[in-house]
Amino acid sequence: MRVLGLIVLIAALGPLGTAGASEVVVYTARHYGQEPAIEAFTKKTGIQVKLLAGSTGELFERLKAEGDKTPADILLTVDAGNLWNAARAGLLSKIDSPELASNVPASLRDPDNRWFGLTVRARTIMYNTGKVKPAELSTYEALGDPKWKGRLCLRSSSYIYNQSLVATFIKRHGPARTEEILKGWVANQPTIINGDTKILEAIAAGQCDVGITNTYYLARMLAKDPDVPVRPFFANQQTTGTHVNVSGAGVTAHARNRAAAIRFLEYLSSVEAQQMFAN
Ligand SMILES: [Fe+2]
Repeated sequence: MRVLGLIVLIAALGPLGTAGASEVVVYTARHYGQEPAIEAFTKKTGIQVKLLAGSTGELFERLKAEGDKTPADILLTVDAGNLWNAARAGLLSKIDSPELASNVPASLRDPDNRWFGLTVRARTIMYNTGKVKPAELSTYEALGDPKWKGRLCLRSSSYIYNQSLVATFIKRHGPARTEEILKGWVANQPTIINGDTKILEAIAAGQCDVGITNTYYLARMLAKDPDVPVRPFFANQQTTGTHVNVSGAGVTAHARNRAAAIRFLEYLSSVEAQQMFAN
């Protein structure tokens, strides 16, 4: 197994310098945006948070291999598909928390309360402003139109962000129509690029005209350089709306610090922490 990322110990800032106070160990596949909320949680509760970062696949395999010996109290990851996989493999436990149930809408959490969505992320069409007019765009489905031949940049079919998007097509259109849509995309000979940011860079460089990515990657690029010639087109506004997915977390099946872990999730779902995530 590959060596995972560094364990990052968030400094104890708790009241009274709480030596020996409780802690939570978080396996996280998120790699940005979580630090302010975590620091605020430690300040508030004295509970220290140890982060162990890795890819979703690595963390999933590690949790499975460690079984009841795992030090992890929480799995924090992206995409409902990953959360669903972890729950299905028995890696997460049910949480009975009125606070989580009221903070997180039912549509954004596991029906059995094994994971809870913490952020909603839009995945939509991105285009080069010099080469495409927004009026030429409409839906994900329409990217199979021959006018996009040789002009698309997409992720591979094995990537979970794509799989979750395609899952919504299957739910909406059924398998046969979904296959037609995807064959349309493939007939346009898309350039397959492994990374949302890399797709945006390819669009900016004119290597392709249109792609599909999560919006926050573009926001990060535009924050650095507002002149990047890429803009989002919010797909399917006349039909089903733009696809959104969640990132979220659950308490592990063998958590040693279960109470503190639940408290941590409750905090992350609070208005205060949500504001930090959003920023
Ligand atoms: Fe992402």
